[in-house]
Amino acid sequence: MKEAPARGFRVRPALAGDLPEAMELAGEAEARYLAALQGGADLHLVAEQSDRLLGMGLARILVPSSMSDERAAEVSNVYVRPDARGLGVGRALVSALARWSRERGARRLVVKTYTQNEEALRFWEALSFRPRYVQMTALTEDLAGREPG
Ligand SMILES: CC(C)(COP(=O)(O)OP(=O)(O)OC[C@H]1O[C@@H](n2cnc3c(N)ncnc32)[C@H](O)[C@@H]1OP(=O)(O)O)[C@@H](O)C(=O)NCCC(=O)NCCS
Repeated sequence: MKEAPARGFRVRPALAGDLPEAMELAGEAEARYLAALQGGADLHLVAEQSDRLLGMGLARILVPSSMSDERAAEVSNVYVRPDARGLGVGRALVSALARWSRERGARRLVVKTYTQNEEALRFWEALSFRPRYVQMTALTEDLAGREPG
């Protein structure tokens, strides 16, 4: 993995021993994290500075779907420790995930993010991500109505 000594951190594959600290960074998504460590189909990276983790990110190669016949990789669990934001850690993680994905034939990265998460949207836009399709949602109770008859 490429070192970034000038910025004082490096991106490297995650190890089983990183799990407790990675879970401190972002408690959710433990199952995906464990699957990524065990299987070869996913890549889980961490950004490390001295002896602490600054951030992490995961990529998974997607099989072509009805929405697209292009091979793509889904990026998820991108998280940077609040006191390390704005230093290029997130960009370095996603760049390394992109290199790995490209080597596996993925032409695109895709990411799901909540429309309310404006901080994340600005980050993905700065990295050249653009909206492609929209998932719309409604509450079942608003739609189910009353039983006919
Ligand atoms: C979003 C997040 C991963 C960004 O990580 P980061 O290490 O601070 O990002 P970087 O320093 O690598 O910034 C990369 C680019 O994104 C832009 N960017 C990052 N955060 C931004 C923000 N809050 N507002 C505007 N632009 C932002 C930077 O300006 C930078 O642009 P540049 O390279 O053209 O100068 C981090 O804020 C985070 O962990 N947030 C909480 C978790 C989250 O929302 N993850 C995404 C889930 S989908």
